[in-house]
Amino acid sequence: MKNILNVSDLQNIARKRVPKMFYDYADSGSWREETYAANQNDFSHIKFKQRVGVNIDKRSLEKKFMGEKVSIPVALAPVGLCGMQHRDGEILAAQASEEFGIPFTLSTMSICSIEDVAENTKNSFWFQLYVMRDKEFITRLLARAQDAGCKVLQITMDLNIIGQRHADVRNGLSAPPRLTLSHIKQVLSRPTWALGMLRAKRHVFGNVIGHAKGVTDNASLWSWVAEQFDASFSWKDLDWIRNQWKGKIILKGIMDPEDALRASKLGYEGIVVSNHGGRQLDGAPATISVLPYIIDKVGNEMEIYMDGGVRSGQDICKALCLGAQGVLIGRPFLYGLGAYGKKGVTRCLEIMRDSLDETLGLLGETDVCDLGRNNIYYKNYKEFFLE
Ligand SMILES: Cc1cc2nc3c(=O)[nH]c(=O)nc-3n(C[C@H](O)[C@H](O)[C@H](O)COP(=O)(O)O)c2cc1C
Repeated sequence: MKNILNVSDLQNIARKRVPKMFYDYADSGSWREETYAANQNDFSHIKFKQRVGVNIDKRSLEKKFMGEKVSIPVALAPVGLCGMQHRDGEILAAQASEEFGIPFTLSTMSICSIEDVAENTKNSFWFQLYVMRDKEFITRLLARAQDAGCKVLQITMDLNIIGQRHADVRNGLSAPPRLTLSHIKQVLSRPTWALGMLRAKRHVFGNVIGHAKGVTDNASLWSWVAEQFDASFSWKDLDWIRNQWKGKIILKGIMDPEDALRASKLGYEGIVVSNHGGRQLDGAPATISVLPYIIDKVGNEMEIYMDGGVRSGQDICKALCLGAQGVLIGRPFLYGLGAYGKKGVTRCLEIMRDSLDETLGLLGETDVCDLGRNNIYYKNYKEFFLE
């Protein structure tokens, strides 16, 4: 893998190895994909201050996330259908992140179940909750996650209706999925992926099938999923979840300083500044651009993470300079998984680590905890926040 030097290298291999419908599922945003593009592009508005003549011989990339040490300030973001990028994708990604010393987040809409991941890892992982209409299902799901040792819950706030992704509609990957000749051709043109899938633990949503009332087979599963995202979900419903969760809670999908302040006043331990990787509200600003305003509003009252468009250690550095506790990555690790399974996820994390370490040193800094706005020049985005 010595020629795999950046996330785009992994992405190019994944494109060749994963059937088109699943590759497109990862590499797409909603509607015109304006926000999807902005997430990556806006990092380039921030420039580093190069400082020299500093002893940078010993450098540290460690931080604490939710009270636990992490080897680099990165967590794997929750990603649905991870097990369709590669056989047993969630288990492999969880193992790679555990070996690397960073948290893995399992999505409600994963292919491998909570129990599958717990049985195949040693450390606890984070769990992500989509709030569904079936409240008994949610209660059981939260209990299952806690029984499996999960201590941190991410509640996703920005997907109570689904943003339309044209690629999924065109590929027939919306509920209920249509099996077409084109799907069969796509699978047959990726024989290594297809052979792997024959040995996969699961092929459908493992947290749902056999656990949600009335969901026993594939057909009932897809209609259940289509009906279940709860558009009536609001802030007041969060208490009901909090009463059932003994561990820490991070609200994911916060993009506005007022919402961030509300989360902080309600006592949540953290937020993820996120627009769902540009898959929901197209036209929303890039996360890196709203991050400083959220941090200025909330201060150090809780841990503030960001995700969206992070593709290198330089991007991680910029987020930390603006005040983030750390970042989550979604597509980068999915591309690694699609390209080379567990080894690809590890390679993705190595790329993040090495480029972060080098950037830290070239900034004239030795500890990621010391990074601040004094290390960057950044454009003022105040126009987004006209009173
Ligand atoms: C294919 C895909 C599936 C996703 N599924 C979920 C999910 O199940 N739950 C969730 O909260 N976020 C989900 N997200 C959003 C990610 O958690 C994260 O916010 C986003 O990927 C960050 O942007 P990035 O991909 O540019 O790193 C998904 C993102 C992608 C790309």
